[in-house]
Amino acid sequence: MRAEPADPHIHREGPNPTMSDNGPVQIRCPVLNVRRVDAYVAITVVAPGIAERFRSGQFISVGVGGDHSSTLLRRPFAVHDVKPDYGGTIEFLFSVEGTGTAWLAERRARDLLDLVGPLGRPFPLPRDPVNCVLVGGGSGAAPLFPLAQSLRRRGCRVDFVLGAASADGVLNAITARRLAETATFTTDDGSFGTRGRVTDVLGKVVREGRSDAVYACGPMPMLRSVTAVAENHDLPVQVSVEETMACGTGICMTCVIPVVGGDGITRMVRSCVDGPVFRGEQVRFDDVGSIPFDALGAPGWKGAGRRGVEQDRDIA
Ligand SMILES: Cc1cc2nc3c(=O)[nH]c(=O)nc-3n(C[C@H](O)[C@H](O)[C@H](O)COP(=O)(O)OP(=O)(O)OC[C@H]3O[C@@H](n4cnc5c(N)ncnc54)[C@H](O)[C@@H]3O)c2cc1C
Ligand code: FES
Repeated sequence: MRAEPADPHIHREGPNPTMSDNGPVQIRCPVLNVRRVDAYVAITVVAPGIAERFRSGQFISVGVGGDHSSTLLRRPFAVHDVKPDYGGTIEFLFSVEGTGTAWLAERRARDLLDLVGPLGRPFPLPRDPVNCVLVGGGSGAAPLFPLAQSLRRRGCRVDFVLGAASADGVLNAITARRLAETATFTTDDGSFGTRGRVTDVLGKVVREGRSDAVYACGPMPMLRSVTAVAENHDLPVQVSVEETMACGTGICMTCVIPVVGGDGITRMVRSCVDGPVFRGEQVRFDDVGSIPFDALGAPGWKGAGRRGVEQDRDIA
């Protein structure tokens, strides 16, 4: 028997999910295929209700350990691919880190997985066919592939910059070359592409591609550096953060990070529902993991009563 969803805003998938309801659904999905992609394990599941609602940048959370597991928390993963096959399939991929990903890596075709999704706010897309550079670190490159496809459909130029510690961590180099005008790779150990970090080559890619916007996903230090490069070139930058998440649906506040609103006020916002995509220059990277004294509601906060504002989501 399926567990009830923890959040009343999550709908269990009925026999005829409708497109008018774009909220997340909880589905038990059959695994179609498990394969290796570079250093990662990729799982494709049949999940029509998620596939039809999905927009680039959104993620899923996956129950791990089976029906009787004491591992209560779901694990969040970016959606790496969506296909119309079997009514709608999605693929996510991961490296084995701990209990949950070790269990997932042992799944096989026809096993059932309990998924909730799509979750979070998607990447905002430019209105016009502008030039975009997509920067990914390790498995953080996963959400950039559906984004590249969305941008291409809008007539945007796409350039990829992908980095990892070593060659097998660079995700989908061949697909990146096929999808993008240019694909530039970096590895810390120099085993593939340029030795160094993505930010060592980003400025050159931005100049040569005459980029109008930057999108990035990866570890927090990388997102901070990418944001700095984008700001130096006066470009808007959207970052997708992979902050630790317990519930993934806005309830537990595990995932809060300090973000400056358009009114200059810092708020602790939930990266699962207010993100995971944010404007890079609005994230206070140096204060992630703490509550800055001047954040709304913090002990040092002096401006109570100011209006709440939505983040400015405009790009390019
Ligand atoms: C939006 C998002 C997208 C992601 N996409 C990908 C992806 O595409 N590929 C990929 O490889 N990884 C991705 N990750 C990271 C991935 O979720 C973790 O690698 C995975 O959860 C590790 O699970 P584990 O059980 O193997 O590791 P463990 O370390 O055993 O468990 C990690 C889990 O423990 C819980 N946890 C840990 N610390 C805390 C804490 N302080 N408070 C509350 N709960 C805690 C969380 O639920 C966390 O997910 C993503 C993360 C996020 C937030
Ligand atoms: S993970 Fe629980 S509020 Fe974001």
